[in-house]
Amino acid sequence: MDQPARKMKVLVVEDDAFSRQYITSVIRMGDYEVMEARDGAEGLAMFESFAPDLIFSDISMPVMDGLEMLERIRRKSHETIVVMTTAFGSAEFTLKALRLRANDYLVKPVVPKDIIVNLKKYADVLAARSVEREVVGFILERYLKLRLDNRLEVLGKVADRLMQETEGHIQSADRMGVRLGLLEIIINAIEHGNLGITYFDKTGAIEGKSCDLNDLVNERANQDPYKSRRVQIQFQMNSEMCEWIIQDEGEGFDWHSVPDPNDPANLMSMHGRGILLARMNFDEVIYLGRGNEVILRKKLIQPA
Ligand SMILES: Nc1ncnc2c1ncn2[C@@H]1O[C@H](COP(=O)(O)OP(=O)(O)O)[C@@H](O)[C@H]1O
Ligand SMILES: [Mg+2]
Repeated sequence: MDQPARKMKVLVVEDDAFSRQYITSVIRMGDYEVMEARDGAEGLAMFESFAPDLIFSDISMPVMDGLEMLERIRRKSHETIVVMTTAFGSAEFTLKALRLRANDYLVKPVVPKDIIVNLKKYADVLAARSVEREVVGFILERYLKLRLDNRLEVLGKVADRLMQETEGHIQSADRMGVRLGLLEIIINAIEHGNLGITYFDKTGAIEGKSCDLNDLVNERANQDPYKSRRVQIQFQMNSEMCEWIIQDEGEGFDWHSVPDPNDPANLMSMHGRGILLARMNFDEVIYLGRGNEVILRKKLIQPA
């Protein structure tokens, strides 16, 4: 049963008034509730009073910076999605933020499209999120196999279905990261894999040179040879770990040259965040063969 729709609550934390109002105005164009804070201390207070679902936060700010705010928020909640807005060149801080469990980051100057794409993605994830059920402790092994067509709009629900299988087995502090990591890898399987949209096509679409990314996705989803391709997800869990094998029917890619996520120099490009975020959130991310198959592993909570 679907929950009655509630507007996603978004908090923008940014000391620069112009940037803050700009980001806020872009969010207000959508159907969201928005609040603003001028530094980390205000942000933290609003985190308590407004209980945002999603926070866009600057890193360097007076009074309390974004990292300290993030650290304090994470002591209380792993449910709120936090996206850092980072200045070009401050990769070290971005990496720190990810290690403090920020969920994603946007490099400044933040363009409306990035904000809109993120809002839509997270709104879908949050709307699809089901209430966690009671833990069924006696289940020692689980197996689930899914086959998906190329609709990006159902992926929030797919991620939720996958997360339901892991209830009680993956720590609550890790759950949002795993959910978003799965989402990124499944998006890749459809977008880059089955639909063959390359880094180059995507850059063109994002920069508005060819067309909108959504148009490109929709067009290919109805075209041969793309339209008959499917994504297969095999989930299994045993007493040690959860494992997801995600396979698409695309050409693959040279995964050997995927940049090292621990090198801050790689954090500032417009693409390449999906795999990086997955690597931050799983214990293992292993590409196989031509790159159209990936294994994700997460170790389980071990009984004390
Ligand atoms: N399943 C896949 N099939 C083909 N190429 C892929 C696949 N997954 C990832 N890639 C390649 O790896 C690059 C990096 O992916 P990612 O880190 O998610 O960043 P982004 O999707 O923003 O480009 C993609 O641009 C694409 O070239
Ligand atoms: Mg991606």
